[in-house]
Amino acid sequence: MFEDRSIGLLAEGEERAVVTLWTRCNLVRPWNDPVDDIRICRDSGHGAVLVARDEGRVVGAAMTGHDGHRGVVYYLGVDPDARRAGWGRRLVAACEAWCRAAGVPKINLLVRKENLGVLAFYEAIGFADTHCVSLYKALDPERATVEAGMKADWAAKLAARETA
Ligand SMILES: CC(C)(COP(=O)(O)OP(=O)(O)OC[C@H]1O[C@@H](n2cnc3c(N)ncnc32)[C@H](O)[C@@H]1OP(=O)(O)O)[C@@H](O)C(=O)NCCC(=O)NCCS
Repeated sequence: MFEDRSIGLLAEGEERAVVTLWTRCNLVRPWNDPVDDIRICRDSGHGAVLVARDEGRVVGAAMTGHDGHRGVVYYLGVDPDARRAGWGRRLVAACEAWCRAAGVPKINLLVRKENLGVLAFYEAIGFADTHCVSLYKALDPERATVEAGMKADWAAKLAARETA
């Protein structure tokens, strides 16, 4: 499925390196557990975690999958020391190959408002604004309350950093 031999499915024993990488890339939030997310993705039967390796070292990773209509990409990250060398482009191409093989014709992804600088990257690799607003609802009311608190804390932390 992948023409790029440096990119493949998450292998046994690579999970810790991937979570460390995502954390270094500032992709992990307190209300999302990346280990749970990896497990849910892999157990779903319609998702995969893809890993980019440079001489065996994990330099990038992404989660892809589909909902029966559209493909998605989450947790796309390239190690800060390996950026601007084409790994991001190659990882997204691998996600596209995975989605194409699964039979879904298009991909959507979310960009957080505080990360709009990444839009130049997505534009360079052919993604366009959907002009849609993404809405969200936590299905477990208890979790919704906990998440709301965590998100408020996070927003306050970001605001404090901006004014510092
Ligand atoms: C976004 C990210 C994955 C890009 O990875 P990368 O390996 O550096 O990207 P590439 O080298 O494949 O870049 C491909 C093209 O995108 C554009 N691009 C990449 N990073 C860019 C940046 N910071 N600013 C402007 N353009 C950028 C360039 O046109 C680049 O081609 P060039 O290097 O020949 O000019 C990486 O910066 C990253 O991990 N960021 C933090 C995590 C993140 O924000 N992920 C996305 C969540 S939605």
